[in-house]
Amino acid sequence: MARLNVESSTATTLVIDGVEFRSFAGCNYLGLAQHPDVLTAAADGLSRFGLSTTASRETTGNTGIHDLLEVDLATFTRQEAAILLAEGYTANFAVAQGLAPHHAVALIDARAHRSIRNAATAAGMQVFEYEHLNPVSAAWLARQYADQGVAIFTDGIFAADGAVAPLPGLLAALPPIRSALVVDDCHGFCVMGDGGRGLVDHFRLDDPRICITTTLAKGLGCYGGAVIGRAPLIDRIRGESDVYRRSTPVPTPIALAARAAMKVLRSTPELTIRLRANIAAARAALQGAGVNVHDDEVPVFTFILKQGSEVSEARMEACHQALLRSGIYAPLIEYPGGPTRRYFRLTVTACHTEEDIARLGRELKRELMRG
Ligand SMILES: Cc1ncc(COP(=O)(O)O)c(C=O)c1O
Repeated sequence: MARLNVESSTATTLVIDGVEFRSFAGCNYLGLAQHPDVLTAAADGLSRFGLSTTASRETTGNTGIHDLLEVDLATFTRQEAAILLAEGYTANFAVAQGLAPHHAVALIDARAHRSIRNAATAAGMQVFEYEHLNPVSAAWLARQYADQGVAIFTDGIFAADGAVAPLPGLLAALPPIRSALVVDDCHGFCVMGDGGRGLVDHFRLDDPRICITTTLAKGLGCYGGAVIGRAPLIDRIRGESDVYRRSTPVPTPIALAARAAMKVLRSTPELTIRLRANIAAARAALQGAGVNVHDDEVPVFTFILKQGSEVSEARMEACHQALLRSGIYAPLIEYPGGPTRRYFRLTVTACHTEEDIARLGRELKRELMRG
């Protein structure tokens, strides 16, 4: 699939080849990547610190901003502690390094983000997959390996299809001792739960065996990653994880921007309220156009088109092109974890207007009625 060459973007627009489209792409769920307070903080950080700390935080590369961002993340998610990593991808690596000494076995949802499997394997854990979204399958495996220490890993919201992980069931699947549940909440953080506190908050879970990994590059609109959870695990990662200790942290201007984004998130609960209203409107618009989409409060909508009873890539491509001609960018992607090789994956943000969403529904319906 040809990569896009995006010339400029906002939360709801993309410019490609000089043409501006209404966009339903990306994961800028709250529009924080363009929020003026966030941009001002980044510019301020750039002039105070330059781009890179040029060293690991454990030598000379730490700033109080990085320390405070960790406190912000832990406080907001109502967890004990947090540790920053360079990205969400390496956050999964760091948590696997932190868990591996006491948890020899990783049980991973069959459709989890690839970074999780890569992380667990690289950390030396023995990896098994359980059936997608199936706590019974996870519990069966957990019983087989209980004496070796078991960590269950899942995406919170699955990036490809927007499915919500059954966290209470997965928690119940854990053996009583030497066990952990790792929730990669890259798509739930800033979206689910009270004010965007994430999927663990959404399910009101409070259990010392849970830890969260996230990116700062999607809902928060910045860059970087974090592991968030109980202090002993975070201390172990800080003390022993190579991927944390031997790498350069998130650039300080970005850390400042992420602190500003967290402040906006805390002080503007309307953002997540607006996002939820837009999710409901987008679901209604897509269903009204005749598309089969989920009923969850998740801003990711995945669907395929068929010709008769067969999935039709030709029909999907024709629909994608027709939407482009009417000025709408509706991503037709090839990405692991989706229902088929190519599929539509649309996202809605808090910044879309009622008219944006209605227009998507109208244009899609017109195209689908054409057959
Ligand atoms: C579920 C999930 N985990 C991890 C990552 C990696 O995060 P980052 O892009 O910050 O490395 C992503 C990003 O695509 C993701 O969707």
